[in-house]
Amino acid sequence: MTAIPSGWQLQDIHLRRGAGDVFRGLNLQLDEPRIALIGHNGAGKSSLLRLLIGLEEPSQGQVLWAGQRAHHAQTPTTGQRLAGLMFQNPDDQIIFPTVQEELQLSWQSAHGGDRKAAQAGVLEFLQQRGLRAWASRAVGSLSQGERQWVCWLAMLLAAPRVLLLDEPYASLDLPGQLRLAADIKLSRQQVVIATHVLWPVLDFPRVIWLEHGRVRADGPGREVCPAYDVDARAAFHAARGE
Ligand SMILES: Nc1ncnc2c1ncn2[C@@H]1O[C@H](COP(=O)(O)OP(=O)(O)O)[C@@H](O)[C@H]1O
Ligand SMILES: [Mg+2]
Repeated sequence: MTAIPSGWQLQDIHLRRGAGDVFRGLNLQLDEPRIALIGHNGAGKSSLLRLLIGLEEPSQGQVLWAGQRAHHAQTPTTGQRLAGLMFQNPDDQIIFPTVQEELQLSWQSAHGGDRKAAQAGVLEFLQQRGLRAWASRAVGSLSQGERQWVCWLAMLLAAPRVLLLDEPYASLDLPGQLRLAADIKLSRQQVVIATHVLWPVLDFPRVIWLEHGRVRADGPGREVCPAYDVDARAAFHAARGE
């Protein structure tokens, strides 16, 4: 793997969403090429990804990338696109009625060029992946998992420097999960992924377990994932008086 851009810093982040505080003084440095965020529903995983891409503004503290404010997720020095977020719900992400049009937008964001070039680029990309038949498919005719896969293809085509993935495995079948894990393994970009599906992140160098907006554990996947699993099962059985 070649050099990967490093350097998210979250400094004393306070974030309020709705009636409650999600983060009260969160500090994190995120440099590793592969980072996973795990934890129960409501722990703050999506909020953290949204902070990184600038969809949420902290009420206090700042998000830096390579030492500069990472506002609007632009690379501070060049103005290039720094990060892309794959939303948990594909319907929050997909704009166009057909797969081809949706992917053309991503292709153009990476390569520029006119519509014709984008059309050809997308068709070639789909062909390479054995998905040529998807080009003309109406997005509404795809299953949830297939729409999630379209979002992943869009991310690959847009090729931002950092890939932020919010529960990308949630709707995928097992072959889809295996394909996504293999794609992520090959990716040269930094990947920050929030997930409840733990097996794909077991070998990640860093897994952060969030609990009520705080870091409960932070370390290699082989340590943090089993600790989370054991804790969740113990809490479940204790609540049932077992
Ligand atoms: N749009 C919203 N309005 C109000 N509260 C929200 C909103 N989105 C998230 N929250 C709250 O923020 C907290 C963290 O949510 P989130 O970051 O989505 O957690 P996770 O992704 O770990 O499940 C939760 O308590 C959730 O209810
Ligand atoms: Mg979430």
